[in-house]
Amino acid sequence: MQARILCTFATLRLCVESCFKSLAKSYINRYYCLEVSFLAHFQQLFISHHKVSGCVQKSLGSIRRLRYNMIQLIYALTPIRKNSMNYFVRRPWDLSQSLITEESIYNDKQGRREFLKSIGVIAGAGLSASMLGCQKATIEEIDNAGKVEEGKKNYPFPRNEDFTYGRPETERRDAAEYTNFYEFSTSKQVYQYVDKFEPTPWKISVEGLCRKPTTFDLDDIYKLFTLEERAYRHRCVETWAMCVPWTGFPMSDLLAKVDPLAGAKYVKFDTFFNPEQAATQKYDDYPWPYSEGLTIEEAMNPLSLITTGIYGTPLPKQHGAPVRLVLPWKYGFKSIKSIVKIELTDEKPKTFWNSLNPNEYGFEANVNPEVPHPRWSQASEWMLGNRERHPTVKYNGYGDYVAKLYADSPLSSPPKPAPLPKDLLTAPS
Ligand code: MTE
Repeated sequence: MQARILCTFATLRLCVESCFKSLAKSYINRYYCLEVSFLAHFQQLFISHHKVSGCVQKSLGSIRRLRYNMIQLIYALTPIRKNSMNYFVRRPWDLSQSLITEESIYNDKQGRREFLKSIGVIAGAGLSASMLGCQKATIEEIDNAGKVEEGKKNYPFPRNEDFTYGRPETERRDAAEYTNFYEFSTSKQVYQYVDKFEPTPWKISVEGLCRKPTTFDLDDIYKLFTLEERAYRHRCVETWAMCVPWTGFPMSDLLAKVDPLAGAKYVKFDTFFNPEQAATQKYDDYPWPYSEGLTIEEAMNPLSLITTGIYGTPLPKQHGAPVRLVLPWKYGFKSIKSIVKIELTDEKPKTFWNSLNPNEYGFEANVNPEVPHPRWSQASEWMLGNRERHPTVKYNGYGDYVAKLYADSPLSSPPKPAPLPKDLLTAPS
């Protein structure tokens, strides 16, 4: 009986192999790989169960690997999301060997939940609806998930009336439940995955080409700098937008403290790296830590805000606690979160999205409706919450502050077409 079942498995496997081998190209290749490894694991499970009866451990290992493959299959069948930075969809054959085999990663509850939720599928009866993000969380749940107490006593700070949105302010809840923070999740409901993240105590070192390299903690920041609240528009490269009040201080004040040298041409920013607290950092497909960069002139621009708060409270974890950057005239991916290091350099730094896909995510990345993303138009944007559509404005409407920085940049407007030869302009007689 056992031999017959094994034989059936083997025949079935051979059938699938030969059937799919002829079609094993491009997209179909996915199904081929998965079907075959699927059957291989059924077979392995069966053998281990019978051959080593009593050796429960081994069978459990097979079950785990089988479940893992099922998840990968469902993942492969899930259509790639449109209009998302998340072009970097991980497929089974993209995974490094270490990712496939390492049990500690598989067993990690946080990582598993993150993975399941990011693919947005039901993969087993034991998963509750809330775990899959089907239920709408209350504002209290969202607040509790991301809450950071340190520094709270200093809030609120006075509003700088020079800045206005020109649109209604985004509801706090709408901004807090739809965030980008790849370290924790590739979904937008990042607040569900930040429980292990400890953003306090925190230190930021400012170093490189400067006379007074300094490490600041949060107390230093609240003591040494004059913080204020600014109503800024935020435009994500994915076309969503929001209007939120950030609390912070100009980056030029921070750089003044370290006294940059004349050779400092760029500023590089790094986010923390701690895979124990941030599940996605366990995947080595991404160039962790998240990094960003600016020219020194951009960093010194009065709009560049070192940010510690939002809506009159310290930044919740999912918004980049405890310190992030906010650059309202650039696509949101430049506004790096949870910064631990700022370095003055003489070379243009490598940055996270630009290293992954330089054709889609440029270093400069100024909001510009005239330059479409290679996969979608940037002509308009939709607001978090009411989903109202607005035409996108160059530099997100902050041209008075920043246009002068890009007078010579070929990226600030698309190349003008060469003039047509005269004879082509003459109407045919
Ligand atoms: N910073 C880090 N470290 N990791 C990220 O994934 N996402 C960026 C940016 N900063 C990101 C990051 C992107 S794509 C956007 S649009 C903004 O954060 C979003 O800020 P918000 O989530 O607070 O609205």
